[in-house]
Amino acid sequence: MAENMKGKVVVITGATSGIGQVAAEKLAAMGARIVQVARDRERGQAAMARLNQVAPGISHSIYYADLLRLREMKRVAAEIAHAEPRINVLINNAGAMFGTRQLTEDGLERTFALNHMSYFVMTQLLRDRLTASAPARVVNTASDAHTSGAVDFDDLQSKKAYRSNLWDLLRYGGPAFKVYACSKLMNILYTCELARKLAGTGVTANSLHPGFVSTRFGDQTGGLIGFGIGIAKRFALTPEQGAETLVYLASSPDVATVSGEYFYRCRPATPSREARDDSKARQLWLETSNIAEREN
Ligand SMILES: NC(=O)c1ccc[n+]([C@@H]2O[C@H](COP(=O)([O-])OP(=O)(O)OC[C@H]3O[C@@H](n4cnc5c(N)ncnc54)[C@H](OP(=O)(O)O)[C@@H]3O)[C@@H](O)[C@H]2O)c1
Repeated sequence: MAENMKGKVVVITGATSGIGQVAAEKLAAMGARIVQVARDRERGQAAMARLNQVAPGISHSIYYADLLRLREMKRVAAEIAHAEPRINVLINNAGAMFGTRQLTEDGLERTFALNHMSYFVMTQLLRDRLTASAPARVVNTASDAHTSGAVDFDDLQSKKAYRSNLWDLLRYGGPAFKVYACSKLMNILYTCELARKLAGTGVTANSLHPGFVSTRFGDQTGGLIGFGIGIAKRFALTPEQGAETLVYLASSPDVATVSGEYFYRCRPATPSREARDDSKARQLWLETSNIAEREN
């Protein structure tokens, strides 16, 4: 395996399972030092053991945080910024689809908190480290599901969206997928705006669709959509295949200066029309900053 990540520091969320786990292991095997954020100690230790097996002799690190909570996102990002003078790659990847609407301690709907806010907060708080380490990269795991999403700025916490109706059931298999699709659309809009704000700093920002991959994704979702995902997984990509674009964006010299793009199968792809709406991207940034800056 190529060793072009030797000496590079990669911060990654959601590396205890699925696509993130494989990507972290592949990048470690290429010489990177992995700094991962996990929520569960047992799963975190297992992931660390695998990293140490794949890439012995590198002192990988792990931090614990529940990325549903703003306070935890901020704490863990501050701890990493304090401990790591250099960060070459930040991979925001932790994500889930929730079958029911529940609010976090911050009053945020869970999909919005985990899939969108954690990407924003982690990046904002590590931005100075990335800029100081330039050339550096931010890679955000989005999804092709975004094509079914729409951002409703009057319903960012999905109060309306979770109200199931027959049309949503027929179109999305239920509200959970609709809300998830919206969060993945936000990932692309956010990445585009981030890339604009980072222009000229030597830090790039790109998002990706990993493909439909057989991971633990959807196992907790329940309902018709959870059942459907369970069946469809039999025909899905392996996590190794699903991690390819993530590893490519984090490491390939081919994309060292590419920014603001959405990738699928290691190639730039065109996201939905709404995902290319610059005014929505700006509005999302503003609304998200306001939420992130709330006292908690
Ligand atoms: N699988 C697909 O077909 C597919 C397609 C398109 C996009 N994606 C995206 O790919 C990304 C990775 O998903 P995956 O398929 O690899 O799913 P996965 O196997 O379920 O992995 C999800 C990761 O996120 C972590 N996570 C979940 N909730 C968290 C929380 N509250 N705090 C901290 N970490 C948390 C999980 O930690 P635990 O191990 O503790 O659960 C796990 O490491 C997600 O952003 C997903 O939207 C997946």
